[in-house]
Amino acid sequence: MPVVRPLTITRSVEIIATMPAYDFDTPPDRRNSHSVKWQRVAGRDVLPMWVADMDFAAPPAVLAAMRQELEHGVMGYAAPWPSLLDAIVEGLQRDHGWRIDPDWIVLLPGVVSGFNLACLLSGSPGDAVATLTPVYPPFLSAPGNTQRQLIRSDMVLEDSASTQRWVCDFDDLSACITPETRLLLLCNPHNPVGRSYSREELLNLGALAIERDMLICSDEIHCGLVLNPDTPHIPLASLGEDIADRTITLMAPSKTWNIPGLSSAFAIITDANLRRRFRRVADGLMPHTNVMGLVATEAAYRDAHDWRLALLDYLRGNAELIMQAVAEMPGVRTTPVDATYLAWLDCRELANEKKQNPTAFFEAHGVLLSDGADFGAPGFLRLNFGCSRGVLTEALARMRWAATD
Ligand SMILES: Cc1ncc(COP(=O)(O)O)c(C=O)c1O
Repeated sequence: MPVVRPLTITRSVEIIATMPAYDFDTPPDRRNSHSVKWQRVAGRDVLPMWVADMDFAAPPAVLAAMRQELEHGVMGYAAPWPSLLDAIVEGLQRDHGWRIDPDWIVLLPGVVSGFNLACLLSGSPGDAVATLTPVYPPFLSAPGNTQRQLIRSDMVLEDSASTQRWVCDFDDLSACITPETRLLLLCNPHNPVGRSYSREELLNLGALAIERDMLICSDEIHCGLVLNPDTPHIPLASLGEDIADRTITLMAPSKTWNIPGLSSAFAIITDANLRRRFRRVADGLMPHTNVMGLVATEAAYRDAHDWRLALLDYLRGNAELIMQAVAEMPGVRTTPVDATYLAWLDCRELANEKKQNPTAFFEAHGVLLSDGADFGAPGFLRLNFGCSRGVLTEALARMRWAATD
């Protein structure tokens, strides 16, 4: 049996002196909670590193706002209120330098609903929607849900001495797009490859959409989770009016502040006509946004900035641990994560039978990961590292042992 050495973090974790200390090392026990992530491993010695929520409690400021709402006791219908919209506007200005108009915001019960609506309003049944793969699985089903064809362009690995990152193959994407392709469905930051696209890449994608007269739906749900200071999030629609006019941006507090179970998201649509069309297709299909989700949204954007910074610091430590551990896992490769708490593992060179079904293989060795096949890339796995360092260390040790054994 190989010796499993403990993993250590070589980088010094910077603590900003004025930042309150948040405890990400000892999150609540989710084993007997309502968590879908932990229910899948109930009663088994398996660590759940799959579905994209984090094991941490929501920020104290968010929980306090929800408690206050609960005390009021009336859970009636809500409509967007000024301080909620102001919190979003100011949060996007503070975090991404993007000044939006509150009128551009359309509240939604979820980002997935938002991009299904975007498919529905682009072109007609039979037309096509293009996306870059591998990608978050609902991107692959949204075109079919709305009677559109799916066009996929595979990302390619840029692998040099200085860079390892997944990038768009522009020639391939350009060649894939047909005259019937009415929508480009973009994921930025990109789940599962963890890329935060550069200005140049986004300008190229925008130019392609303009040239081929496509709408763009830019899912930016992970934008608050940029770990690499060299790759800040750039909202696609901030790159100029010509791009913004054809863009539906989707955002939510759910990933960054870990409140995905509260079903609160929003679209930002600068063009009044496009916004009207979006509202029209949503009408009757979309349920109301829930009041607790909106209360939490306001508090997240306005009052949980320092929590987010502390979280990012913690996640950077986790990402570094993964790089170290994967380097010692025979047959597994990965790329540095610019953004998200998701690592994308290439397991195609695992030994012999281990690579037949890497998800089942690692689950049998005590770690449940997301299957790359669901993202359009069999042989890959996605590892969710939004968990305590203790759980991550144990999961990586199990994986390293399994890969080496
Ligand atoms: C890229 C992306 N979009 C959307 C979602 C889900 O959004 P929602 O729960 O708001 O529908 C996820 C969840 O993992 C995601 O990674």
